[in-house]
Amino acid sequence: MSGEGGEDAVRQGTDEVTGGGSGDAGARGGAVRSLAELERQVAERRQRPAYGEDALISCDRLVRIFTADGVEVQALQGLDLLVNKGELMALVGASGSGKSTLLNILAGLDVPTAGAASVGGYDLLSMDAASRLRYRREVVGFVWQQTARNLLPYLTAAQNVVLPMQLAGRGGSFRAKRQRAARATELLDMLGVGYCHDRHPGQMSGGEQQRAAIAVALANNPSVVLADEPTGELDSATGEQVFASFRTANEELGTTVVVVTHDHAVADAVRRTVAIRDGRTASEVVRHTEVDEHGQESVVAREYATVDRAGRLQLPRDYTDTLEIRSRVLLELETDHIGVWPDRRSGEGKAERQD
Ligand SMILES: Nc1ncnc2c1ncn2[C@@H]1O[C@H](COP(=O)(O)OP(=O)(O)OP(=O)(O)O)[C@@H](O)[C@H]1O
Ligand SMILES: [Mg+2]
Repeated sequence: MSGEGGEDAVRQGTDEVTGGGSGDAGARGGAVRSLAELERQVAERRQRPAYGEDALISCDRLVRIFTADGVEVQALQGLDLLVNKGELMALVGASGSGKSTLLNILAGLDVPTAGAASVGGYDLLSMDAASRLRYRREVVGFVWQQTARNLLPYLTAAQNVVLPMQLAGRGGSFRAKRQRAARATELLDMLGVGYCHDRHPGQMSGGEQQRAAIAVALANNPSVVLADEPTGELDSATGEQVFASFRTANEELGTTVVVVTHDHAVADAVRRTVAIRDGRTASEVVRHTEVDEHGQESVVAREYATVDRAGRLQLPRDYTDTLEIRSRVLLELETDHIGVWPDRRSGEGKAERQD
């Protein structure tokens, strides 16, 4: 992507040189200077990191269009999202905003219509069937809302955790089997459900099943665990325990965790909550801990609007409604902020509405 920037710079530079080439020595001097300037600009742009270069998950203008009965639904409409390695973050948004669509794409279960998406160096649009299989087995783990979908009912919790390791096919020796069994025990213990080791899902509560499901998702030590409403079928106390298991996985194993949730307790307990609206990331809340002069710690949350790669941002509907902004605004660049004003001259905006 830095290449694109470089081409832009060249084009701008070429225009400058042509425009300056009127024949006299002074103009030629200008052209030489602008060439040097151009080279500097190109070098600078090359050094600038490309979008999402350092991120583990990178979605760039992601589009997913479904066609059902001849009607098109744009589930994702140019969604940008970057998630760094080691993050524990939540995705929230109204029903139908595109959260599950996004998660299915990140899980390698669905392919976007347009845009770019990569996770841990895997290009989710162009990977072949063999890479897709490897990606789904080794790079991502998934936890569904429906407890029954996560575990096989005729296997014990431990056997469920061993299964993805067997499928990844890392050795059939006795030693390899023992290692897999030991890892399953270790993961179930770490997530606080070691006592369910030999139980079948039917003998476990919903919360226990979800925690065992997290162990299954972690079996092959993936870079990312994705979870779609993992606490949706649980009461709030059980939901908290399940969320604590995600936190443990994140803290103990360094696994990046992305959780779609309607649960405010979960959304408030992570450092970063990204809100999706109409198939785009619209805003995000970032929380950090501040210590006051008395040594008292408190969590401070700030809400940010997302600015996409083209510079677009979505104004919150309650703000635009309050000022009755409909189609356009005036922007004013100040030294440290940008002012956004209703277009009063056209009658738009509360102050001078006539009707
Ligand atoms: N397979 C599909 N075929 C057609 N339309 C679909 C399909 N999957 C999703 N959609 C549509 O895409 C949009 C986004 O759906 P999605 O399931 O991603 O929403 P969501 O944010 O997960 O909602 P919820 O909170 O209800 O789970 C919806 O309008 C939905 O009807
Ligand atoms: Mg959903």
